[in-house]
Amino acid sequence: MDRPEKTVLIRRIKGRIQRRRLLTAAESLRRGGIVVFPTETVYGMGADALNAAAVSRVFSIKGRPLDNPVIVHVADRSEVDRLCIEVPEKAGALMDMFWPGPLTLVLRKSDAVPGVVTGNLDTVSVRMPSNEIALSLIRSARTPVAAPSANLSGRPSITAFVEAVSELKGKVDFIIDGGRSRIGVESTVIDMTHRIPRLLRPGGLPVEEIELAVGRISIHPSARGFTEYRGATTPSPGMKYRHYAPEHSRVLLFEKQPRVGLAISRTRDRLYASGHTVAMLLTDETPISGGVVLRLGSRKEPEVIARRLFSSLRKLDRSGFDYILAEGIADEGIGMAVMNRLRRASAVPVHTAGEEAGRRRKTAQR
Ligand code: TXA
Ligand code: MG
Repeated sequence: MDRPEKTVLIRRIKGRIQRRRLLTAAESLRRGGIVVFPTETVYGMGADALNAAAVSRVFSIKGRPLDNPVIVHVADRSEVDRLCIEVPEKAGALMDMFWPGPLTLVLRKSDAVPGVVTGNLDTVSVRMPSNEIALSLIRSARTPVAAPSANLSGRPSITAFVEAVSELKGKVDFIIDGGRSRIGVESTVIDMTHRIPRLLRPGGLPVEEIELAVGRISIHPSARGFTEYRGATTPSPGMKYRHYAPEHSRVLLFEKQPRVGLAISRTRDRLYASGHTVAMLLTDETPISGGVVLRLGSRKEPEVIARRLFSSLRKLDRSGFDYILAEGIADEGIGMAVMNRLRRASAVPVHTAGEEAGRRRKTAQR
């Protein structure tokens, strides 16, 4: 099953996935197959978490660096005991309050988890998704499911069945239709191995809600999305890689500021003058005259903006604009997840910046 010639697409009939067909996907997982499935956050690319060879295939299909660990998905709290050596009290409390849901907890790993799943770290991240298809797939597979976001490495996450099909058909064994993702940004990742739990990645569950439940959470600096290319050691290896970037377009982010529309239109006009094509990704509140505009939603409803974020980036990228000028929103609540993704989508990785500088130097020498 190394290169699936045929990817089986499991579509919804009258809004539902047939049980019989879901069982064939679950059976494939048990035999080392790769199944793309919907969750409430984004689509995942799943493999049996206890099968090192299957998980390795996920890394190679995605082109994912081997030191970037993946999240293990469970359908039942009791499965966590097998995966980790202890569940700290606050972690148990968070599971009780927020599972199933968009919350991933980093715990000390047990020997049952193959090193490839955790990038050879001594921790493992676990999550119980709330999406019904995801839950019945994991339950029927009778094994925990390792699943990074389904996108090819570095690209925006996948939040719709059609996007999964266009990016992954021919590369995986099954793709299951779950329509559009309800939340649209990935889960919140909290490292529970410290006395004060640490936010590694903001996501669908606002950190403010988590603090209300278990008290103070420290925020790792890279959780804001600013520092991943500065060479600092990152506790979550995924943070150091270029991420969420469209294939063709360059994203320029305008942080929240008064008269942001004016700043964006000035940049747009400068880019027009140098012959570039430009699209703008704006909130409903920002007035703008002229140009191609995609509205993300109202600043008063950041969860709507989160839901539309990745598919909007993908849509503009497909249209082949040279630049996407994106308006930032308040860095709080689910807006923190939105801003983390936008900052990272607009970042220029150090090696690329270095190469560009090198090229410029060479050109100057000639
Ligand atoms: O919502 C989600 O979390 C989705 C769905 C499919 O569940 N999954 C997802 O996986 O976003 P992925 O692989 O794209 O992102 C997982 C993040 C990465 O930044 C990774 O470095 C971090 O979690 N992570 C995973 N295991 C970790 C660990 N043991 N310690 C620290 N960070 C970890
Ligand atoms: Mg990802």
